[in-house]
Amino acid sequence: MSFVWQKEFETGIKSIDDQHKILVSMIDELETAVVEKKSDEFLEVILSKMIKYVAKHFSHEEKTFIFTKYSDADNHMREHEKLKQQVLDFHTKVQAKTANVDQTILDFLKTWLTEHIMKTDKKYIAHFNSKNVQ
Ligand SMILES: [Fe+2]
Ligand SMILES: [Fe+2]
Repeated sequence: MSFVWQKEFETGIKSIDDQHKILVSMIDELETAVVEKKSDEFLEVILSKMIKYVAKHFSHEEKTFIFTKYSDADNHMREHEKLKQQVLDFHTKVQAKTANVDQTILDFLKTWLTEHIMKTDKKYIAHFNSKNVQ
């Protein structure tokens, strides 16, 4: 099992595609570590790194929404907020050792990212292109 970049994920906007590629590779790195049964401490470090990068990416999109006055910003940001809260709650449980990084959370992350890119991120392509976002 691995999570790899797919052509269908492409938005054609370089900064976005570059960051999405990094997110895909971070989830894949986490999955590889789970499959290889790395220590809980090791998994927690990769999870933290991924959560930080998720926040950075969301912030990049959201700053661009505000800067370009994107009309669907509120709905989009609500999806980001919900996911951020879910991963932060999960991270807290992992740190308290009441949850483990396992295939269930990985499947959730993979499905979430795929659907968010395909259904929600793709909606801003025309708007970003019209504002020359790269
Ligand atoms: Fe995105
Ligand atoms: Fe997004």
